[in-house]
Amino acid sequence: MSDGPKRQAGAGLAGGLTNYGDPDFSAYLRRSFARSMGYSDEALGRPIVGIANTFSGFNNCHRHFPEMLEAVKRGVLMAGALPLEFPTISLGEVFLNPTSLKFRNLMAMDTEEMIRAQPIDAVVLMGGCDKTVPAQIMAAVSAGKPAIQIVAGPMSTGRYRGERLGACTDCRRFWARYRAGDIDRAEIDAVEGRLATTAGTCAVMGTASTMACIVETLGLALPRSAAIPATHADRLRAAEESGRRAAALIGATGLTPRALVTEKSIENAVRMLLAISGSTNALVHLAAIARRAGVPFDLRRLNALSDETPVLVNLKPVGANYMEDFFAAGGVPAVLRELRDLLHLDCMTITGKTLGELIEEPLAEPVDRSVISARAEPVDPDGGLVAVFGSLAPRGAIVKRAAADKRLLEHEGRAIVFSSLADLARRIDAPDLDVTPDDILVLQNAGPKSEAAMPEAGYLPIPRKLAAQGVKDMVRISDARMSGTAYGAIVLHVAPEAAAGGPLALARTGDRIRLSVRERRLDLLVDDAEIAARRSETKEPDSIARRGYDKLYHDHVLQADEGVDFDFC
Ligand code: FES
Repeated sequence: MSDGPKRQAGAGLAGGLTNYGDPDFSAYLRRSFARSMGYSDEALGRPIVGIANTFSGFNNCHRHFPEMLEAVKRGVLMAGALPLEFPTISLGEVFLNPTSLKFRNLMAMDTEEMIRAQPIDAVVLMGGCDKTVPAQIMAAVSAGKPAIQIVAGPMSTGRYRGERLGACTDCRRFWARYRAGDIDRAEIDAVEGRLATTAGTCAVMGTASTMACIVETLGLALPRSAAIPATHADRLRAAEESGRRAAALIGATGLTPRALVTEKSIENAVRMLLAISGSTNALVHLAAIARRAGVPFDLRRLNALSDETPVLVNLKPVGANYMEDFFAAGGVPAVLRELRDLLHLDCMTITGKTLGELIEEPLAEPVDRSVISARAEPVDPDGGLVAVFGSLAPRGAIVKRAAADKRLLEHEGRAIVFSSLADLARRIDAPDLDVTPDDILVLQNAGPKSEAAMPEAGYLPIPRKLAAQGVKDMVRISDARMSGTAYGAIVLHVAPEAAAGGPLALARTGDRIRLSVRERRLDLLVDDAEIAARRSETKEPDSIARRGYDKLYHDHVLQADEGVDFDFC
């Protein structure tokens, strides 16, 4: 790592002046107002590291950001630059309606414009909860200034009757038991208080942890920083070092996110995603990040990589362990080391070293093979995610095969179709619902352009009467997403979605559907004439009067395979 700030490189407070038609007056006015904050001449003469702070009372995962912020500032000051924090939108996953994804692009726009508009020479991005990190990376790629990500880090686990619990795979496991009548109301209430007990992001390899590992692999965060638990002192040291490194990045044009996100580094990130059996959401975010960088992102390439990238990490929701175990086992550097021969080692990172050079650095401790496997003995020889294509999903859909009952990955069954989330809620537990364990549950109108705005609703509940019989998994298909903490034979992100006129909209209860993960196929077994007849009968939905961000979103959002970004970004 090259040391020290490039103090001459940054424009500091004189950068990007407000335009009054007189640049000298603009500089004078800005200095005058900056002085009102009590800064000395020396402080105001330094280059500026902006710190995008996403602390919010509506984001439990970022509860510890005030302490992390102090550490980032300390690092910036130690490197001789001036740290100035600024707020941006924060997205607390469970506090947003209809879903946090709808606001990811808004956060990306907010963050991008503030990085660009303010006199910032480099920026530290403080994020963590699911959509915050992709939003910040999308923003930083577009903004074009040096940037470094420091994530919140995962929660530590809680305890219930001697059992370790972590949000939110165990939330779903206990809720499924409650729905099946296995545990009562008193017990589910007791568990509720033990699932999320510390600051930090979900304790398993959900979307937040997946994105943290991906960002470290992309070279946009410090090595080993992704998995440090939120409450661990090492997280504060990583925050301090991130501040220091941001100052050192000032003027380093070859180390901006725009320069570091390349076709090769995106491919490395996909390898990491597959090896950690990470969240399906990451494919949407990677597609958006790649698109911002002008890099192609092809789901068929995902399949090629998936066939040669083994699952190496034994973590929930697919395996047995938690993020705190992953950190202790060696974290991202240990996984990269195992993947070495599959990676593009010449990719540069914000450290100033290539990924290959970082991999050669010794690990702090021996790798715990019960959590991170050696290549010779993988958890699963095939990658965790694949894309399937066919008459039901011409532009693709995603299956997390590592999280499914393997028997269901080759399956033909009768469709039970729900036309919306409201329809699903109304009928899924009805005692008279005609459904068997071999049927395929289909949810329509939950994609990006739907009113639901692509929520994490793809994990359709097992109908209560089947759950009570002990049925744990069924094939479920939708244009929605799935929480990274969920599991099952779930087919997601069907594109084009029903609300955009995709064939999913034409599926009817009683149709046959065939899923073959081996052949990478997803087909609606209905003949072309019948499909054409159904399409001609389909009425245009009533147009809805929209305003504000809702209108911007609906007019411009892209499909899942394009990252659900806006067409103008
Ligand atoms: Fe924030 Fe899961 S709710 S990461």
